[in-house]
Formats: sequence, structure tokens, C-alpha cells
Amino acid sequence: MSGRQQDIVADTGRAPPSRSDAEEGERKKPHIELRGIRKAFGSVEALRGVDLDIHRGECLGLVGDNAAGKSTLTKILSGTYIPDSGTIAIDGQAVRFSGPSSARKRNIEMVFQDLSLCDHIDVVGNLFLGREITRGPFLDGRTMLAEAREMLDALDIRIPRLTAKVAQLSGGQRQTIAIARAASFNPKVLIMDEPTSALAVAEVEAVLSLINRVKASGVAVILITHRLQDLFRVCDRVAVMYEGTKVAEREIADTDLQDLIGLIVGEGAKS
Ligand SMILES: Nc1ncnc2c1ncn2[C@@H]1O[C@H](COP(=O)(O)OP(=O)(O)O)[C@@H](O)[C@H]1O
Ligand SMILES: [Mg+2]
Repeated sequence: MSGRQQDIVADTGRAPPSRSDAEEGERKKPHIELRGIRKAFGSVEALRGVDLDIHRGECLGLVGDNAAGKSTLTKILSGTYIPDSGTIAIDGQAVRFSGPSSARKRNIEMVFQDLSLCDHIDVVGNLFLGREITRGPFLDGRTMLAEAREMLDALDIRIPRLTAKVAQLSGGQRQTIAIARAASFNPKVLIMDEPTSALAVAEVEAVLSLINRVKASGVAVILITHRLQDLFRVCDRVAVMYEGTKVAEREIADTDLQDLIGLIVGEGAKS
């Protein structure tokens, strides 16, 4: 035993923690810590001081009524909006995002509610938007097609014709393409804003199983949804927002629909 370790034993009367205990502690520390996040748009206080932790590899549901502040909070985490005050820490280190590209450098991606796809270009073009592969002065369509196929296969996404314009695809297919594009940046945190709200039942199933596959690959997912029943299919934890504040957090095993509905409509805020 080293002198330092003996000191620790002398101080606490216990053996120093084994390496695996220390690693376990490290793993349990939140990957991301948001503290006191505030954001106003003119006279509208969209966020009134929100604290939120995101842990590695978890799926966190983020729920709340319209205008509760869900999109604003996640847009701050993805660098789209700059908070008026509050802090963001990644692995204990304070960070400041100046835009989506600085969040991307920190492995945070967001799939927006409007998907931000280009309808008039094809699936491959959308997957490589802004980072096209070229050969000399020309686009390298063949390589991009092959890599697009790999990207989609990795997530078990089936789109028959990758040269189809995105406008010709179903809502569910468009959603999976937007998720595949985000996942291809190798995020550690992937935020999805209402990915199932406009989808048919079978398409919802496809997107939920895609979320589970993304999660299984070790990515933390933040899922904003109004479809509360979906939370129980994919989430480990749920945070509830109400009028710009986070009013509750629940382990998924410790809550049910009734509890969540009560919190969403503000019963938690009154008690
Ligand atoms: N870009 C914006 N400009 C002005 N007001 C906004 C903007 N984004 C959001 N808001 C307002 O902030 C509040 C929170 O909105 P939002 O975060 O979109 O809520 P949610 O996603 O929970 O429905 C709402 O009152 C909304 O109108
Ligand atoms: Mg929203």
C-alpha cells in the first residue's frame, strides 16, 4: 500500500475505493449538466431557470404542454439558441456554444421538428448535405451512394431507392433519414423533437425501434413527445416541464400515464 493510500485508510478508517468503484462513480456522473438555464423572447419567458442532467447512454423523455419550453431548452443544448443565463457543463467542464457547429463538435446533435431536410434533393444528397464527397471538381456520387447505404444499413433502415427525392417519401421514411443523418455525426447525445407526432401507427413503431437501436449503440437520446405511451417503450427517465420550468423528474419504472398527465397539466406545480 502506498503512503497516500495509507493516509486515506487512516483518515476514513476504510480501504480506499477500488478502481472499479471509482470507475462506477465516474460513470454515474452526468455526462451533461444544465444549470439555471434562462431564455426570454421579448416579454415571453420561455425558460425560467432550468436544471437538467443527461447521463451517458440513457433515453430521457422530455414532456410538457405546448409552449412549456421543451424545444427552446433542447435548442440551447444543441447550440441553436444562446441562453440569456445559466451554464452547460460536459463531463464537468463548462462549455459555451456559439452555434450548432460548436455543439456538434461536442457530439451533440438534434433532429428538429421540421426535420430540416431538402425536399427537392435525393436521399443520398440529404444524408451528405454540407459534407458532400468530391473527386476532383466533381461530386463522387458512387461513393456517396455506397456510404449512404452503409449509414442506413447500420441502423437497419430500409429505403428502397436512395436516389428518390425526399419529397416522394413517406413521413416515417423522412423521419428515419433525418435521424440517420444526425446519427452519422457519431453523437454522444441525440435530441429528437416530436419524431413521431405526424406519423402513421406502423411508422411510429419503426421510429421507436430505431430509437432503441440508436440507444443500444451507446448514444444518449433526449426524446420530446406528446405521445406519452411511447415513453414507456424507449425511455429510462422522464423530465416534465411546465411554463418554462422543470417541475418533475421520474424514473420510468416509478411513473405511469396518470402521474405524467397530472404533472403536465400543472397539478405538480400547485401542490
Ligand atoms: N424563436 C422564438 N421567438 C419568439 N418566441 C418563441 C420562439 N421560440 C419559442 N418561443 C416561445 O417560447 C415559449 C416556449 O416555446 P417552446 O420552447 O417552443 O415550447 P414547447 O416546445 O414546449 O412547445 C412559447 O411561448 C413560444 O411561443
Ligand atoms: Mg416544441
